[in-house]
Amino acid sequence: MQYGFFDDKNREYVITTPKTPLPWINYLGNKDFFSLVSNTCGGYSFYKDAKLLRLTRYRYNNVPYDNNGKYFYIKDGETVWNPGWQPVKTELDSYECRHGIGYSKFTSVKNDVKASVLTFVPMSDTCEISHVELTNNSSSEKKLQLFSYVEWCLWNADDDMKNFQRNLSTGEVEIVDSTIFHKTEYRERRNHYAIYSVNTKVDAVDTSRDAFLGAYNGPDHPDAVFAGKLTNSVASGWSPIAAHQIDITLAPGETKTFNFILGYVENPEDQKWESHGIINKKPANEMLARYQSDADVDKAFAELSAYWDNLLSIYHVKSSNEKVDRMVNIWNQYQCMVTFNMSRSASYYESGIGRGMGFRDSCQDLLGFVHLIPDRARERIIDIASTQFQDGSAYHQYQPLTKKGNSDIGSGFNDDPLWLIAGTSAYIRETGDMSILDETVPFDNDMSVATPLMNHLKRSFDYIVNHKGPHDLPLIGRADWNDCLNLNCFSAHPGESFQTFGPSEGPVAESVFIAGMFVKYGEEYAQLCELKGDSAEAERARAEVKKMYDAVCTAGWDGEWFVRAYDAHSNKVGSHECKEGQIYIEPQGFCVLAGIGVKEGLAEKALKSVKERLDTKYGVMILQPAYTEYHLELGEVSSYPPGYKENAGIFCHNNPWVSIAETVLGHGDRAFEIYKKTCPAYVEEISDIHCTEPYVYSQMVAGRDAKFFGQGKNSWLTGTAAWTFVNISQYILGIYPTHKGLSVDPCVPAGFGDFELVRKYRGATYNISVKTNGAQKGIQKLIVNGNEINGTVIPYDPSVKEYTVEAIMG
Ligand code: BGC
Ligand code: NOJ
Repeated sequence: MQYGFFDDKNREYVITTPKTPLPWINYLGNKDFFSLVSNTCGGYSFYKDAKLLRLTRYRYNNVPYDNNGKYFYIKDGETVWNPGWQPVKTELDSYECRHGIGYSKFTSVKNDVKASVLTFVPMSDTCEISHVELTNNSSSEKKLQLFSYVEWCLWNADDDMKNFQRNLSTGEVEIVDSTIFHKTEYRERRNHYAIYSVNTKVDAVDTSRDAFLGAYNGPDHPDAVFAGKLTNSVASGWSPIAAHQIDITLAPGETKTFNFILGYVENPEDQKWESHGIINKKPANEMLARYQSDADVDKAFAELSAYWDNLLSIYHVKSSNEKVDRMVNIWNQYQCMVTFNMSRSASYYESGIGRGMGFRDSCQDLLGFVHLIPDRARERIIDIASTQFQDGSAYHQYQPLTKKGNSDIGSGFNDDPLWLIAGTSAYIRETGDMSILDETVPFDNDMSVATPLMNHLKRSFDYIVNHKGPHDLPLIGRADWNDCLNLNCFSAHPGESFQTFGPSEGPVAESVFIAGMFVKYGEEYAQLCELKGDSAEAERARAEVKKMYDAVCTAGWDGEWFVRAYDAHSNKVGSHECKEGQIYIEPQGFCVLAGIGVKEGLAEKALKSVKERLDTKYGVMILQPAYTEYHLELGEVSSYPPGYKENAGIFCHNNPWVSIAETVLGHGDRAFEIYKKTCPAYVEEISDIHCTEPYVYSQMVAGRDAKFFGQGKNSWLTGTAAWTFVNISQYILGIYPTHKGLSVDPCVPAGFGDFELVRKYRGATYNISVKTNGAQKGIQKLIVNGNEINGTVIPYDPSVKEYTVEAIMG
């Protein structure tokens, strides 16, 4: 069952009922100012950091869910309704929500009044615009009232939820004409405030939540709205809000429009005040002045569209499969941008106050983002590397505002260092910009111990070399990619964090997954050494990689698949010897995609075992059999009920690893079958089972052991976005950036048909057409600007700006 449909021409998902199984959200904002907006106008906004600079309040874990947003109320006689249905939930005569790329548009009708709200963050200002249009479709005059409502958050969203003894006394506002200024804490250590304004004269405002709602009411029944009269309250402590009242008369057929602006403004420290206690409003007024007319808004919206036209023209495919085209050209790349911006910080499942930027998460996000805006990827790599320690390990997370490592979680996740090589190598393969390796980058943000980025990569590499266990496999530390495989934790008491409790270096627990990573990214490191002219280091690196390869093929091989790990007692994890958790997905996918065991025949066997033991109709499960009891020596992985999360859920993130692994073996049919199972455009038709948004990936789909098999959870912020884009764009469609130039080597299912692709790369445009001839893999002929070339790599030539490429498979 579906709750809407894709409108590919407009790059939108059109939701046709507000009653989706879960809130279906979208993200607004490109750089500093961000908003989350649901299909019923729920959500919130923040500047740069969802924890430290939250503008509006959201109530996680509330009932009914999706509580608080940017609401508009329309009062038409006795009827009060919202264009997004919530919070009043008056039944609408028609409803539509279009989630687009960086904007959402709501169009609803009630009693012959049509309301539409277009909301987006303009390219060059730190604000959100809501353009509201009201039309009287009846044959008589209508007297209506339009009300707006947002509830301010007192900036630090974590403190805002906890520190009531202080917070109920700090709220302060100023009101000037139609603009409400949220200046809480501005008198002391802050030089910023927020505004909510509308480009018309208002009839009244409210800034005190209690005055607006009335005690014991929620936003579903604001007394002031139902009375048709805001109270001009001036907040003092308690909960400051911003609400406007506009009384409107609409002749039959008449439309009126309004621009509401929610903004964030900073003042230089010495220009904070206009006069004693009165804030300097100059920058706010300048910003508002830019969005007064409808033409201003149209222009800002056109800029946003043009921005995305440009980004989405960098990789564009035209195949006979509309679902693939839709995901590749629109939604998958869009989600990659969102994960790049948010890491794992703010979604409807990540509260914005927990995990900031993840070290491994952000490095992986780069893989799907780097082609879009390489300069921002470059900046990000430097930020991430700046949180590395001198021994090559790294803070597991950092805060986007301060860019400082988070010491609550600390370090000890032994896969982290290698992801830095992965991200940097992807950046250089995309851009050819070797200069990044010479950038001076601090350790733990301390410039006095800064060294060139290349040296950071060396330390990443050596961290693994220097931290091996009894089987010559990498020590796992607190965990590797699988945060829940806590082999050195041994937590026996509730409340202890699996991620930080325990000695972290057991010291013997080892990870075959990190070994697979080391083989893959160790080779990428060696390539960088070669490009830098350091062949001795490249040779040393390759020798280490070779040792690791051998260790995986011996101690890391279980007979039919790769072992997952060795626990602190040196027992195998993910082996036929185990009672539960006999086979894990991660080493099968990653070792094979790293090329391990291909020539020895192990890779074929491992993937066959995956198919036999882990496959389901909704995707490939992370392990089997599920753990039915808690294992002290394994940690969080065994804490979840069978079928959920890391305990045998379908963890979407590592499905593309297996799909990529299949392409390494040339199995186009199987690679694509795996791709399809979790692909949103395919899953759309079971939205009632899947529940989360059908236009983006979720972190997890409940596995076969779970009661709600097939149900998605934790949508949007997941490494699945980047890895799936890598899979479909670089391995299945096969356009892979190498240091020497673009490689064209698709691996498609037998009936996929011919396809065309435009790829912009290092300043040139590649117009690629692929004739598949029914083949799954293998290039028979590659003709580049009329000349046949050897191999699959089109040598990069800075003097050529336009390439016509004909690839003939077979
Ligand atoms: C979750 C993981 C997550 C980790 C770190 C665990 O509880 O299951 O998916 O990566 O916490 O926050
Ligand atoms: C989610 C985390 O963000 C990611 O870093 C981790 O790899 C997966 N969970 C698996 O545990």
